[in-house]
Amino acid sequence: MSYPVDSYGQSQNAPGCPVTGTGAAAVTPLFGADFAADPHAVYGRLRATGSRAHPVALEPGVHAILVTSYATAREILLSPDFSKDPRNWADLMRGNVPADSSVRPMMEWRPNALFSDGHEHQARRQVIDDALGKVDLYQLRRFVEEAADELIDQFAPTGRADLIGQYAKTLPLRVFNRMFGCPDDIADRLVEGMSALFDGREPEKSNALVTQGLVDLLEFKTATPGSDVTSWMLAHPAQPGGEEIIHQLVTLMGAGTEPEANLIGTAALKIFADPRFAGHSAGINPPISESINDVLRWDPPLANYGVHYARRTTELHDVVFPTGVPILMSFAAANNDPDEGIAAEQDATHSAHLAWSAGPHQCPAQRQALSIAHTAIEMLFKRLPDLRLAVDESTLEWRPGPFHRALKTLPVRFSPRAARAAEKASAVANGAAPRAGSLLQPGPPPTAPTKPSLGGKVLNLWLNWWRGDN
Ligand code: HEM
Repeated sequence: MSYPVDSYGQSQNAPGCPVTGTGAAAVTPLFGADFAADPHAVYGRLRATGSRAHPVALEPGVHAILVTSYATAREILLSPDFSKDPRNWADLMRGNVPADSSVRPMMEWRPNALFSDGHEHQARRQVIDDALGKVDLYQLRRFVEEAADELIDQFAPTGRADLIGQYAKTLPLRVFNRMFGCPDDIADRLVEGMSALFDGREPEKSNALVTQGLVDLLEFKTATPGSDVTSWMLAHPAQPGGEEIIHQLVTLMGAGTEPEANLIGTAALKIFADPRFAGHSAGINPPISESINDVLRWDPPLANYGVHYARRTTELHDVVFPTGVPILMSFAAANNDPDEGIAAEQDATHSAHLAWSAGPHQCPAQRQALSIAHTAIEMLFKRLPDLRLAVDESTLEWRPGPFHRALKTLPVRFSPRAARAAEKASAVANGAAPRAGSLLQPGPPPTAPTKPSLGGKVLNLWLNWWRGDN
């Protein structure tokens, strides 16, 4: 039996601590450059202790338990004995987590599906599932193609680009704006504000820009519903009134854009650099699905998350999980668990990995996420067939942070190409539909922005949400 941490997240003396071999449990940092450079080495060292769960620090002074065993992670994700509600986090409730903690935005409670349990979760999740279920994947593909074309146009004539900063980071935002039915003026503000937040630029101003954008979107969609996720959520019988919907929208957009960008970036890197995908050459179909599945299987974009709390001190697989301490599932370590990991027959179907989590909180947007990533990468190679890495793979850096697996940059080269913008402009002049106000069908032009009714209350929603850098 191992004792990861006591109920306040402090290291305690654990007999025969598996991490140190001494009486005191060592806390492994999941922050900083070393972890970012080679998280799998850290998971390997933790696994070598023989324990299935380990005391970790998410940033200095913020303690948690990291589950590295596939079997234990699955059991917790499926068990009613563990809660998703962060109001169980003792250190947070006691005011011991600093207000400016970089991990706090991704872990503190909001009225959304991610942080609720039982019936409350079912109701919130139903709204999301029903709205996402109405998204037409064919239309979604068109939106990805359009966003990809616009972004590729911006760098195609130059022969070089950073595929993270100039493509992967922005594309999901643009697609989401279409899915959520944002009129152009609101969409532009959301892209500007969210891009700045991802980059850590002018956080107060960007946060206000995004918050105001969402408030305007909700007011616009209330007055002028369309065929889009926002309107479907607003009209859902299980959607309560008030500001809850804005928290749900933040979850959807935050949950969707950051891991999506990282999936696109890391899967593209695999096509360039991994010898298993080296069959790709100019103009030949690159192995896109394979590289995406490979990333999800071995190096998932959301590497450590699925935060749970033991409802009462619980012993599971020889580990004691105390109350009050966040328990993170290492989706990355669990997927790579050599002992009781994914069985070969399940591996073949790509169905058993934990990149989407498992159980009631499993990602509701897997089909959409896969479609966006696949089309985004396909468009790159279609438009720029001789796309290649511009630097040695070993020089690439990964963003620090406990939750994500995220490239900082992905510099590429290719033969310069003309932009397609002129072609598109003439298509619109010839009667093709211009960019519309809703996801699935053209909507009326946006109304003038109205006075916000929710902005003040939700002002800090976006700060670093779903990013968790440190
Ligand atoms: C590559 C892209 C994505 C990955 C790797 C991913 C992964 C995940 C994971 C691991 C969870 C579980 C988190 C937890 O247990 O705490 C999750 C939940 C969630 N994801 Fe995704 N996701 C992706 C894209 C998306 C997209 C595109 C959307 C929205 C359109 C989305 C919406 C959500 C929501 C709302 C939840 C919370 C579900 C709940 O608590 O019931 N995700 N996702």
